Amino acid sequence: MPAYSASAPGKVILFGEHAVVYGQPALAVPVADVTAKVRIQPAPDLPRGEVLLTAPAVGLRDASLNSLPENDPLAKAVRLTLEAVGAHMPAARIWISSTIPVAAGLGSGAAVSVALVRAVSGFLGKPLPPQTISAIAYEVEKIHHGTPSGIDNTVITYAQPVYFVRGEPIRTFSIAKPFTLVIADSGVPAPTAEAVADVRRAYQAEPERYGALFAAIGRVVERARAAIVGGAVEDLGALMDENQRLLEQIGVSCPTLERLIAAAKQAGALGAKLSGGGRGGNLIALVPPQNPTLAGAIAEALRAAGAVRTIVSVVK
Ligand code: PMV
Repeated sequence: MPAYSASAPGKVILFGEHAVVYGQPALAVPVADVTAKVRIQPAPDLPRGEVLLTAPAVGLRDASLNSLPENDPLAKAVRLTLEAVGAHMPAARIWISSTIPVAAGLGSGAAVSVALVRAVSGFLGKPLPPQTISAIAYEVEKIHHGTPSGIDNTVITYAQPVYFVRGEPIRTFSIAKPFTLVIADSGVPAPTAEAVADVRRAYQAEPERYGALFAAIGRVVERARAAIVGGAVEDLGALMDENQRLLEQIGVSCPTLERLIAAAKQAGALGAKLSGGGRGGNLIALVPPQNPTLAGAIAEALRAAGAVRTIVSVVK
């Protein structure tokens, strides 16, 4: 059995986070500038069936797969993959590495799961189809996220722009004209599950008000999709601003994000919004299509205003 490698990209949500949990559409795109990689090598020197995992980002070095707890995300991804292919793992070493920042809304957990499922099933000579890979990654996501919408595992598995509606078959969309985003990490750690749970409580307390906000976000998503598919990139700035205002009303923004958004716009971004769970985490800023060289200045302004990391990414 030869060695086998697989990878998966990061992702960013362009429009529609939070409302997507309540059935509204959302748009997300892969971010190929960052990736998770998994390499598996047969290990005839190890006892039969022994699998050793090395994942420096989570402090694992030659950890025996069998010693990991039931709800360990890596162990769960491997176990579900073996169930799906109906095979046992021969003695092997698995290396997991990722350039996707952890807990920063770029889908690092889902990307590691997808790369791992792909690598394990490919290594065993039984590569799984994308819908199974995505479904396994979704099961693993539940460990941290409770009730994820499924958008992360979907866009990362298919590595294509996705128009996502919870529970519906995957729909991709095309990007008529590439556009450039600056993705910035606010440096404020913000567990998505908490923001999602708070929104749920607020929605239960005021279903009509929140339902209307979610529907308004859904309408922004539809306009954004039309703009992207039609090549009207310059319209996306105002739509990002509108989506951001609605997210503020939902209660998932924060002063740090708003300060960074203002800094990006001051530096020339056409629009900017938080991306993902909010309360911190990531924001995205749109670089004017007629002046792509502004990307550097926008990224610099964001770092000067306190962003801990910026990624300039061309969506194409
Ligand atoms: O924090 P992220 O990038 O994983 O995105 C969360 C997106 C939410 O809509 C807030 C939750 C979800 O499961 O879709």
